[in-house]
Amino acid sequence: MRLFVALHFSPEVRRVLLGAIGEIRAGARQANTTRPENLHLTLAFIGETDNLRGAREAVSSCVRPAFGLSVGGFGRFGGGFGRFGDLYWAGIGKNPELAALAEAVQAALRAHGFEIERRPFKPHITLARQVQSDAPLRLTVPETSMTVGRIALMRSERISGKLTYTEVFGAELT
Ligand code: 2AM
Repeated sequence: MRLFVALHFSPEVRRVLLGAIGEIRAGARQANTTRPENLHLTLAFIGETDNLRGAREAVSSCVRPAFGLSVGGFGRFGGGFGRFGDLYWAGIGKNPELAALAEAVQAALRAHGFEIERRPFKPHITLARQVQSDAPLRLTVPETSMTVGRIALMRSERISGKLTYTEVFGAELT
C-alpha cells in the first residue's frame, strides 16, 4: 500500500481552502482540483510498503503536546500556462513546532527502516494540479489558525479512477 503521514484541517481552515479551490475552478481553463475530502498537509511521504505496523509505531512515537498552526497565502509550482499546467498550493505560517514534528516523524520512520527522502520540509497544501489559465491566478487565502490535535497515517489509492486518501491510523496529540 501507498502511505503518507499528514495532518487534517479544522472546519474553518477547510472553508478557506475550499473557497480558494472555487476561485481556481472559476478562473482556470482547466484544473485538476483537490477533492474536498482529500485536503491535507503532508509531514512525510512513505510510498509503497507492507509495513503498516512499523509506520504506526513510528507515528505513535511522535506524540507530543498539541500546537497551533496558521494557514494563509498561496503559491504556484510550475510555469506552464496553457502547456503543462501548474500546481497551486496554500501556505503555512512559519512554525517551528510543525517543522520539529515533521522532522521527528521522518526520523522515526527512518529508524523503523523506511527510506524517506532527505529533501527540506516545505509545508504546502495542494489545492489543484495541472492548472491551465491565461494568466497567473490570484487566490484569496486569508490567514486562519487552528490547533493540530492529531497525526494521521494515510493510505493513498485509486478507487474507480479517483485518487482516494483514507486514514488507516491516527495518533491524538495530548
Ligand atoms: P503533493 O501534494 O505536493 O504532490 C500524497 O501523495 C501526499 O504526499 C501529497 O501531499 C504529496 O505532495 C506528498 N508527497 C511528498 N513526496 C511525494 C512523492 N515523492 N511522491 C508522491 N507524493 C509525495
